[in-house]
Amino acid sequence: MSNSKTIVLFILTICFLGATASLNAQTYAKNGMVVSSDRGSSAVGVSMLKKGGNAVDAAVATAFSLAVTHPSAGNIGGGGFMVFMNAEGKTTTIDFREKAPLAATNTMYLDADGQLIEDSNHMSAKAIGVPGTVAGLYLAHSKYGKLPWKTVIQPAIDQAQNGFPFNWSLYHDAQYFSKTEGVNTFMKTYFNNKNAAIMQPNELWKQLALAQTLTLIRDQGPDGFYKGKTAQKIVDFMRKNGGIITKKDLAKYEAIEREPIKGSYKGYDIYTMPPPSSGGVALVEMMNLMELADFKSLEFNSAAHLHLVAEAMRRAFADRAEHLGDPDFNPNIPVTKLTAKDFAKKRFQEINMAKASPSDSALYGRLYDSDNTTHLSVMDKEGNAVSLTYTLEYSYGSQMGAKELGFIFNNEMGDFNPQPGSTKNNGQIGTAPNLIAPEKRMLSSMTPTIVSKNGKPYLVIGSPGGRTIINTVFQTTLNVLEFNMRIDKAIEALKIHHQWLPNQIVYEKNLLSPDTRKILESMGHTLKERNNMGALMGITYDAEKKIFTGASDSSQPDSGAVGY
Ligand code: DON
Repeated sequence: MSNSKTIVLFILTICFLGATASLNAQTYAKNGMVVSSDRGSSAVGVSMLKKGGNAVDAAVATAFSLAVTHPSAGNIGGGGFMVFMNAEGKTTTIDFREKAPLAATNTMYLDADGQLIEDSNHMSAKAIGVPGTVAGLYLAHSKYGKLPWKTVIQPAIDQAQNGFPFNWSLYHDAQYFSKTEGVNTFMKTYFNNKNAAIMQPNELWKQLALAQTLTLIRDQGPDGFYKGKTAQKIVDFMRKNGGIITKKDLAKYEAIEREPIKGSYKGYDIYTMPPPSSGGVALVEMMNLMELADFKSLEFNSAAHLHLVAEAMRRAFADRAEHLGDPDFNPNIPVTKLTAKDFAKKRFQEINMAKASPSDSALYGRLYDSDNTTHLSVMDKEGNAVSLTYTLEYSYGSQMGAKELGFIFNNEMGDFNPQPGSTKNNGQIGTAPNLIAPEKRMLSSMTPTIVSKNGKPYLVIGSPGGRTIINTVFQTTLNVLEFNMRIDKAIEALKIHHQWLPNQIVYEKNLLSPDTRKILESMGHTLKERNNMGALMGITYDAEKKIFTGASDSSQPDSGAVGY
């Protein structure tokens, strides 16, 4: 049997098993583990480990595969971040965040009166940032992978070329887009089969144009995307649809290796993403605050516990709005100060344990989030670990694409502060560090994180969810490190979100009893219920028993941990 057939069969087997086994419960393994938003893509990652590849090979193969199986967020037309720890405990990160095109300006979404043209920074071809995923996966693989490049990308090509079973999540999306007039016509027929009808569950979904685009990347590396035929087609698309990305933008794009943000919590070390993500700084700031708390007197999910967590969030998000942006454009971001234990001491003293603090409405914040990013976690038997989050921003990004390319473009330009100086209570932020400038990277909340114990990876974790990412990763990490929860329990535990402004605690339905709600309200908190937040994908490693435990969030029914 050919390699590609073996992989397709393996994926079909996993899908079949998944249909009968408990889907999102924890999975144990001895040799390695991959957790992602699609069980078939997790299986692709494991197939790399079985071939002798390491965690980076598995992560890169899984990420390319998700661009085929999970196109609402898995992508080659977007960007993201990767945190890597090798078996010796050396850590690094790869920043493949999208960039503003050279022709971008900080007034590009404003009308003649200087007001934001609603949705123009999200739902137009001008919302597309220069994609970073292909450059980032290539850089990560060429520096830290073991298997040949062609080997790690081939399974995604096979899935696109030969098809994979259309799942129910995709079917729901297909129904939605068949009835919705998109920004351009691309999404209208994106999920059609060869009879021009929408795909049905379990039908094999083939994406032949995407297979071709991936084949050029396989054969030419990043040049197969940023130069030549694909680049030409991207630029043609931009011209036709009013986008501003040029050949020069594509040719100039580079992924960047950056030092991780390092924090610690009661003997554990935390490695996470630095700016242009805000996630790492905020996570470490909040974990430092938690280290000062007396958890003997703070029972899990008590009003006192949730109040403290919300107050930590309030402060971290205020600091985020004030200070964070692309470090290449903001050389003086006070990262060291914000992540220092001394700074946490000062911040901790400002917290009144009986009363909610104010959120100054002259300052910052907005509430937008959905689960349209995707995270994958990998650990291998040598002790390497990868935590990778990437995104198109909205679900299916800009919802725009070119038929002959087969992939969807991001709408990440919407993560910039769109209107200089205009910070509103409805949530729009106008602070300087994250204003638009040519070639600047927009601020992100993605928080791929690795926690180590005695210099070895212990927990790999991350999530989608816009700004809620920072807080769901924070609470899951705290659940594992402080409350000793098993990874599946830590992921499933209901969570809260506070982001400075709007000044409210958003809580997952059923988390708060009426008594707890009353206490929190009497402390001065405004409460808002919502359904699920985040979709965490995590792995822990028990160094004594030498066992990996993986779990994915049950909010994503097609996600899964696959180990071997
Ligand atoms: O980078 C970010 O923080 C966002 N673009 C992530 C978007 C996301 O998780 C989905 N929701 N809007």
